[in-house]
Amino acid sequence: VTVHLVGAGPGDPDLLTVRAARLLAAADVVVHDRLAALATALARPGAELVDVGKAPGGRAVPQDAIDGLLVDLGRSGREVVRLKGGDPFLFGRGGEEALALARAGVPFTVVPGVTSAFAAPAAAGIPVTHRGLSAAVTVVTGHRAGDGATDWDAVARLGGTVVVLMGVATRGAIADRLVAAGMDPATPVAAVRWGTRPDQEVLRCRLDELGAAPVEAPSAIVVGAVAALDLGALAPLAAARG
Ligand SMILES: C[S@@+](CC[C@H](N)C(=O)[O-])C[C@H]1O[C@@H](n2cnc3c(N)ncnc32)[C@H](O)[C@@H]1O
Repeated sequence: VTVHLVGAGPGDPDLLTVRAARLLAAADVVVHDRLAALATALARPGAELVDVGKAPGGRAVPQDAIDGLLVDLGRSGREVVRLKGGDPFLFGRGGEEALALARAGVPFTVVPGVTSAFAAPAAAGIPVTHRGLSAAVTVVTGHRAGDGATDWDAVARLGGTVVVLMGVATRGAIADRLVAAGMDPATPVAAVRWGTRPDQEVLRCRLDELGAAPVEAPSAIVVGAVAALDLGALAPLAAARG
């Protein structure tokens, strides 16, 4: 195997899997996103680091160029880690990279990661399900919230917790859609920015205040009764290192 599609976890490098840390320590090349940058500290000294991430306002390397780079690196016979924030198969375009490698006949493995969708809320003291409060959790992307890809009425009707990733720019429209679909405007919301990292920020408000709230990317936006909880014992995960 030459290419490993590896989840870097939500930000705190301590939340990498043991396998991810082992592969990073052995890799010749690490191709990483912006949100996976902290974990590159675990790469072997001397490993080549390739940043294909998008800086705010900057240009990201186009996905087909990343796919092509992974295929070329894989064919070179070097040990390649493709490091992606959170879990590589949750809104990470890891599936597209796996397909490109498979089509090119390049052997690869997938290493799941701790997703920010659950870890960022946990780092703010919020369990995404909680007996008596929420029996379901829906993880949705807010990216292109208006393009019809997500049935927001169905999301609202489900009645559990909603975790929105990539939803900062569209948060007002999403809140309007959820309220129009019957969600209580007073539903608690927590926006967790840079969850699990030392610079983590948590903003809490009501659903009908979300559009005007000063939320910045990257944030996981939690909508539902659980968002009012703050089980401080869980937060912040970064502090567990002492
Ligand atoms: C392209 S998606 C990738 C998600 C990733 N595959 C995962 O499982 O966490 C990027 C979005 O994930 C969320 N995100 C990633 N890391 C985060 C963190 N540490 N805190 C809060 N949100 C985070 C943000 O919503 C961000 O816009």
